[in-house]
Amino acid sequence: MGNTEYQAVVSSALEKHSRTEGGLLPILHEVQDALGFIPSDAIDLIGKTINRSRAEVHGVISFYHHFRSHKPGEHIIQVCRSEACQAMGAVGVIENLKDKLKIDFHETTPDGKITLEPIYCLGHCACAPAVMIDGVPKAKMSVARMNEIVDELRIKHDD
Ligand code: FES
Repeated sequence: MGNTEYQAVVSSALEKHSRTEGGLLPILHEVQDALGFIPSDAIDLIGKTINRSRAEVHGVISFYHHFRSHKPGEHIIQVCRSEACQAMGAVGVIENLKDKLKIDFHETTPDGKITLEPIYCLGHCACAPAVMIDGVPKAKMSVARMNEIVDELRIKHDD
């Protein structure tokens, strides 16, 4: 991502929402949707434009699990950590994933292929445990199926 691309995205989001009360969240959503994360430089620019301190903007980013402050990997695996999924085996899926990928939540494999993130209820509680792979929900996840998906994602990247 070049500087120009990131600046264009941030400027466009600011143009649309900076004069709106409560515009910070839509700005952050728009930047993350376009770039995959909120770059550190964008925090300064956003804060300056809407008259908030860097700490305030950063505080909002940290508060909402949805926002990322680091560039994610090529693929993003999100595992539901809410109650129904935890009760139906998400803990085993998570532990296996951390072990297989050798990373923790909010981290990316050193080759930049896969980022692992927690998510909190996808609305698929009846089909727990639920995960989201690159934005696509998958229900009734098992350790074996998860391992297959990880292997597929790794191959996909290598093509
Ligand atoms: S608790 Fe996991 S999808 Fe609702």
